[in-house]
Amino acid sequence: MVTYIEAFSAPMKNTGVIRLYNSDAFEGMRKACQLTARALDELYPLVQPGVTTDALDRFVFEFGMDHGAIPATLNYRGYTKSCCTSINHVVCHGIPNDKPLREGDIVNIDVTYILDGWHGDSSRMYPVGQIKRAAERLLEVTHECLMRGVAAVKPGVRTGAIGEAIQQFAEAERCSVVRDFCGHGLGRLFHDAPNILHYGSAGEGPELKEGMIFTIEPMINLGRPHVKVLSDGWTAVTRDRSLSAQYEHAVGVTADGCEIFTLSPGGLDRPGLPG
Ligand code: MF3
Ligand code: CO
Ligand code: CO
Repeated sequence: MVTYIEAFSAPMKNTGVIRLYNSDAFEGMRKACQLTARALDELYPLVQPGVTTDALDRFVFEFGMDHGAIPATLNYRGYTKSCCTSINHVVCHGIPNDKPLREGDIVNIDVTYILDGWHGDSSRMYPVGQIKRAAERLLEVTHECLMRGVAAVKPGVRTGAIGEAIQQFAEAERCSVVRDFCGHGLGRLFHDAPNILHYGSAGEGPELKEGMIFTIEPMINLGRPHVKVLSDGWTAVTRDRSLSAQYEHAVGVTADGCEIFTLSPGGLDRPGLPG
């Protein structure tokens, strides 16, 4: 059975109940998420051939410190970096390192800041220099998947409506949806109930209610959907080594739809893509 609870009367751990947040919480989320969105904007000119993902990670750490925010991934379940950087066939949770980016790479940068106790979680894809047409198409399809998922959000539908919208579009474009990772409730906790699957049917999952806050973060592959996690315990890659892409927004359910907390203030929601 699904239960819902007013956010501030629930214990601060993921017990499976779905928190419903008030307008003060929405304001807190707006601030945390806009800080993350600004960092993602400012990363855009830094993502160039020759730059290491460690350098990008350092920027994310310093930008957070300069604005009173802490990267939520630091020391999260043993993770030691300020963001995730997932290149080419890496699906998610790539660990920043000292290897330089190369012309033609596509890299996802996933940042979560904690500001005043609120979590701002968002990610975007960045082309490194000139990329191949197939890679550009994957980025376009994946961003469209995210926005179709967002467009499905309103009170009264089930979480499955989001997954159905994403899966239908991805597969019509001859791409596949990763099943092993999902979106999640967000707010005072980094990963909370409910899980937001990026595949499935509109009739599945708990009903959306005004005040829910969660992420939508589809991972879409050019090849098959299957992934494996490398021996570092984090890096998830496509089993067939096909290219993978991901974009992530945090949204709050409103009376008639949703508010996207993580929209780019600089119009850079799809950095490096036309439009
Ligand atoms: N930001 C990721 C998400 O969208 C989670 C990263 S957890 C880490 O949920 F430990 F891998 F950094
Ligand atoms: Co997330
Ligand atoms: Co994220």
